[in-house]
This record gives sequence, C-alpha cells and structure tokens, in this order.
Amino acid sequence: MANIHDLLSKLWHDYAALNPQARKIHKLLEARGENVVNDHIALRTFDDPRVNVDTLARPFTELGYVAKDTYDFPEKKLNARHYEHADDGMPKVFISELRLGGFSASLRSVVSDLLGQMPADLSKRWDFPVAGRPWVVSYAEYESLRSQSEYAAWMAAFGFRANHFTVLVNALKKFDSLQALNAFLKEHGFKLNASGGEIKGSPDVFLEQSATLADEADVDFTDGVHRIPACYYEFARRYPLPDGTLFQGFVAKSADKIFESTNKR
Ligand code: NI
Repeated sequence: MANIHDLLSKLWHDYAALNPQARKIHKLLEARGENVVNDHIALRTFDDPRVNVDTLARPFTELGYVAKDTYDFPEKKLNARHYEHADDGMPKVFISELRLGGFSASLRSVVSDLLGQMPADLSKRWDFPVAGRPWVVSYAEYESLRSQSEYAAWMAAFGFRANHFTVLVNALKKFDSLQALNAFLKEHGFKLNASGGEIKGSPDVFLEQSATLADEADVDFTDGVHRIPACYYEFARRYPLPDGTLFQGFVAKSADKIFESTNKR
C-alpha cells in the first residue's frame, strides 16, 4: 500500500524532470539557506467521469486529503476544487477540470478519442495522478485543440502529472515579500508570467501569487517531436484573515491569469 509521501515524491520527481527550472530554483533557494516549503500542487484534467476532479482526487482522499472549496473559471470553462490534509505540513492539492460541454464537437471528439485509448483500470491506480500521458496524439490534433483551449492542448500533450508546484513565500526567511523573491529570480535569469502583472492578487484578497513562464520540453507526437511549453513554478504569499488564521484558499481571478503560464508563445 502506497502512502501519501510516495505519491507526493513521485509527483515531484516527474515534475522536476520535465521542468528543470523548478529544480534549479529549488537548489538556488536552498543554497541561500532556505528550507523550501510547498504550498500546493496543481493538477489538470477533463470533466469526463472517467477522469474528472473526483476521480483524480481519489488517490489523495484515500490517503487523508479532504475536499475543501470549489472554484469556477467561466472564461477558461474550468471547475476546480482544492484539498487539504489534516497534517498542515502537507501541501494543498488543487485540481481543475475542463468543461467539455462548453466546446465544439471537434474538440470533444479529439478528447473522447484520447480518453478511449486509456487502459480501463488506469484511473483506479494509486499513482493515477502521475500516470503521464496514456494515449498517442498528433501535433495537428494538439494545434487544433490549442486553437480552442490552451488547457485542452496541454492535457493532450502531457496527460496526468503535476502542472505546477508552489513555493510558500511565508516560509522563506530571507525574502520578506513576493516582490523581493521575484527580483531575485529575474536577477538569476528566470522569466516571470506578466499576464495581469507579475503579481496576481493582493493582501486584500489574502493571497499574492507569481509564476515563471513554463519551461519548454520535447514532446513525442505521432507526426514527430515538437518543443512546447510544459510546466511552471509558482510562488505564493498568504495573508492572515481577520480571525488571525492564514488564508488557505485560492483566488479564481488570480489563478485565471496564472493558467496562462503554459500558453504557447
Ligand atoms: Ni497554483
């Protein structure tokens, strides 16, 4: 029987292999004497019952995670939910799903073909959230999905794995603001997502976030290898609520812009 540490560790190793900048930033912060605490891990999926948020969340809920708030992203046609573990040293898990019903018959048909290629018992595995891409897809299909939804195209290319990990800025000793961390990252040559400003959110909504632009990765398509945006690293600073406890939720308006870190440029 797997435990939650196995699952989180497998997610990190898969993510760091695909996204070398995350490992570089992690090491850079450790070299400065920081102990990097992970605020949340984000995963993506489709709202098809075979793979939807509830299905993808099952390995986490079976290992002690509990469903918390739900979120709606009308423009990107996404639902999302976040999960927390009783041990508050564990990262939160944020899972979003694309509402397929809001898209054209052509997009739905490509996605249904991909999901039809999945082994039937895949979604029952303890490591389903890090199963990778259980289908083949052509670059033409990737581009056709991308013209309607960057999110759908990312899912088609990468499948089930962490989309990003997130450094909790509050736990850093030498950076007293997200601005200071962003400046440090830029000095070291990392590019940040500037959609909606480098910092999404504010103390008024109890959460500030920034993110790198996604690293590019070589991906195998049936019609050749193509270099496309993979994953990004995120940074979050949380603020106390009026009752003194640190805000643990998410802000849909900010996340909406952060999603764009994996857009093709
Ligand atoms: Ni996030």
